[in-house]
Amino acid sequence: MTKKKAGLLVDIIMYALMLTQMLYVFTTNNVHEVIGVVFFVCLIIHLIIKKWWFLTAFRKGQSRSRLFFNILTVILMLTVVLLMISSMGVSRFLFPWFTFLGSSDLHRYMATAALTLAVIHGCMHCIWRAKNTRLAIVLTVLAGIAAVSIGLFAVPYMNRHLKKVEIGSSDKVHGSKVEWVGEKPLVVYFTRVGNTDFDPDVDAVSGASLLISDGELMGSNRLLADMVGDMLDCEPVAITLTGERYPSSYNATISVAGDELRAQARPDIEPIDVSGHDSIILIYPLWWGSIPMPVASFLEQNDFSGKTIYLIISQGSSGFGSTVSEIEDLCPGANVVPGASIYCEDVPDARETLLETIRDWSE
Ligand SMILES: Cc1cc2nc3c(=O)[nH]c(=O)nc-3n(C[C@H](O)[C@H](O)[C@H](O)COP(=O)(O)O)c2cc1C
Repeated sequence: MTKKKAGLLVDIIMYALMLTQMLYVFTTNNVHEVIGVVFFVCLIIHLIIKKWWFLTAFRKGQSRSRLFFNILTVILMLTVVLLMISSMGVSRFLFPWFTFLGSSDLHRYMATAALTLAVIHGCMHCIWRAKNTRLAIVLTVLAGIAAVSIGLFAVPYMNRHLKKVEIGSSDKVHGSKVEWVGEKPLVVYFTRVGNTDFDPDVDAVSGASLLISDGELMGSNRLLADMVGDMLDCEPVAITLTGERYPSSYNATISVAGDELRAQARPDIEPIDVSGHDSIILIYPLWWGSIPMPVASFLEQNDFSGKTIYLIISQGSSGFGSTVSEIEDLCPGANVVPGASIYCEDVPDARETLLETIRDWSE
């Protein structure tokens, strides 16, 4: 096999591996990590085969397209280095001892950037060879947009719709405690599970961020609340609907929640009295970039002036969205303190992050 053919084969394998990595909701974590290592081995072979590039890249008198390609390639290499370090940082199977840059947000964004830049990098070779350069440029831009969309939208969408994780919640919940200086806060949470009419057969239930703990469905935010409750040695209180509950289908819930948000509905909930507490830890999911309307019902039912509301959110890629300002608007006179924002997939392993957050707050 010629060097050129070997290079092409390695490139094709690398693109296939990158796309497979995006489907990690199906391949599962351990396979994802192993494929990651195979990818980096292929990358080293690719760099050895293309070592001439390093010698010629920054010679004077290059065409504009060459210069663009070279700059793009340098950024791609930096991105891949960050992707590699963050991959090890978030690793739970192959490199659990490595924690530097262990941010799953960073890892996801670097993966999207690396895929997009690699697609454009590959397409530029085609532009140089193409008979119809304009068409090749248009196709390159479209391929770049497709790559960004896969990373930013398709992967989180697949995760939200298809992910079901089985855990033993007691292993995840129990651990180090935090001494809260002063009166302990009240921990209040909202979760879809518990406010939804699910099929009693767990295996028949499909949908996002569903945790199965010891054979029972458990909401992500319930698990987070149990972790915080364990740290502070207190019993979290759930925001519970008294009227109509959410439908069991994830898509139907999305649509109902969207209607509620547009109407600024205030669904009926069981009353929760916060009057005896100076501080409240509120744990909730991001819905449509906003707070779920039952959380708004809870906030409106109480007077929070002079109190501190600490926030912990779980989300499917959008951070706190607009929830902090919404909560400030709903609770005039309250001190609203955002803390941990947990990506839904990281919920089962969020205890360490929560511990740091609660320790910061407790001082
Ligand atoms: C109705 C609905 C709307 C959602 N909207 C968003 C969103 O706008 N942005 C986001 O990042 N995640 C969104 N998500 C994902 C949830 O925030 C995430 O899966 C969360 O961990 C669910 O927590 P739970 O299992 O305790 O209900 C949405 C989920 C649902 C059910």
